[in-house]
This record gives sequence, structure tokens and C-alpha cells, in this order.
Amino acid sequence: MSVLKVSLRCVAPVALAVLLAACGHDGSTADAGNDEATASQALVPATGPAMPDPTAMPPANPPDDQAPAAEASVAPAAAPIAAGPPVDPDLCHAEVAAGDTLAFDPPSLDIPRGCRTFTLTLRHTGKLPVTVMGHNLVIAKAADIAGVARNSLGAGPIRNYVEPSDRRVIARSKVVGGGGTASVKIDVAKLLAGGGGYAFFCSFPGHARDMRGTINLR
Ligand code: CO
Repeated sequence: MSVLKVSLRCVAPVALAVLLAACGHDGSTADAGNDEATASQALVPATGPAMPDPTAMPPANPPDDQAPAAEASVAPAAAPIAAGPPVDPDLCHAEVAAGDTLAFDPPSLDIPRGCRTFTLTLRHTGKLPVTVMGHNLVIAKAADIAGVARNSLGAGPIRNYVEPSDRRVIARSKVVGGGGTASVKIDVAKLLAGGGGYAFFCSFPGHARDMRGTINLR
């Protein structure tokens, strides 16, 4: 394995035949003497960044790194969450406030798993107009916020800064300015089917990074 990696790294720079020879030395005498050390130092100016790489990268971890990486790439497809027993409809709505700053109050929200739909209302308690300090509510996976927000820029104010075709978006509201309110109806079955990890955020340009809150399925 390691021999293979070393040779690959040697080939990658593709530089000179001289390089290949040098790498051959390096790999075959891993526990090296002073001679080899000097030899590789002498090569540094010629090879530039190529030499530091072989020493930095072969920490013999590759097999360990690969296993977690494979698990991590599977992780996004979270297992569905079971619905809860039906709950009092009074538990299936809530309100969040946002003023003339980039924050939601409260910054997290509990949604009972027994709600069929959950209505979330945004109250803009600020004074600034919608063109300056617009806020909305967009529901998506927390991990997708940055991508959805980027995609929303092109949608513009006429589409309330949400690209209509973005399937990562579970629900969205209109954008409101100071004194306004807006609400979204969230299909709780979608949150459960997606396995949780959802958040609410504001897709007004520049707001998504700070204006976001967590959705906890209870
Ligand atoms: Co906002």
C-alpha cells in the first residue's frame, strides 16, 4: 500500500526522471540515514512543493481515513423519524420574532412529532423597510442552508428570495419589513421523512449566515 502511494506521489509531480529516481531512494530507505536526508534537502529547491508532500501525507492513516469518510457520505440520507401520537392542535403553532438585527428570537423551535402541520409565524418587530431589512422564514435542512441561500439570490424580491424550483426547501414565507408578519405551514411528515436536521432561516440577501434557528422534533 504505502509503496504504491509513494510511487503515485512521485509520478504526480510528473516533473523529471530525476524526481522518480529521488523518490525511489526516499521510499526504499524510509528509516533513512543522514545521506538520504541531505539528498532530499538538496532536491527541495528543484522540486519545490513536491518534496514536502511525501513527508506530510504518508502518516500511515489512509485506511483509517477511508472508513469514516465512507460512513460520512452515507450519513446525509438520515433514517426517517416515526410520527408521534396526535397532539393538541394548540401545540402545533409558534411565533418567532426578528427585529432590525440579524437574529431570530427564539433561535430554536420544538415541533411535536404528532402535529400534521405546524404553523410558524414570523413577527418583524423592527422599523426598517422590507427593502433594507427584509425577513422571511425558509425551512430546509441545516446542512443545505448555504446552498439554498446562494440559489435564492437570483430569485430576487419578486419571488421572496427563494428559488421556486429548489426542492431542498420544505416551506417558505413571503418577505416582510418592520411591523409585518408572515407565516409558513410546515408539513411535519416531510420533516420526519427527511430524518430531522432541519432549520428555519431568512433568505434575504446576506442574512442566512446569521439568521437561522434549529428545529427539534419532539
Ligand atoms: Co432577514
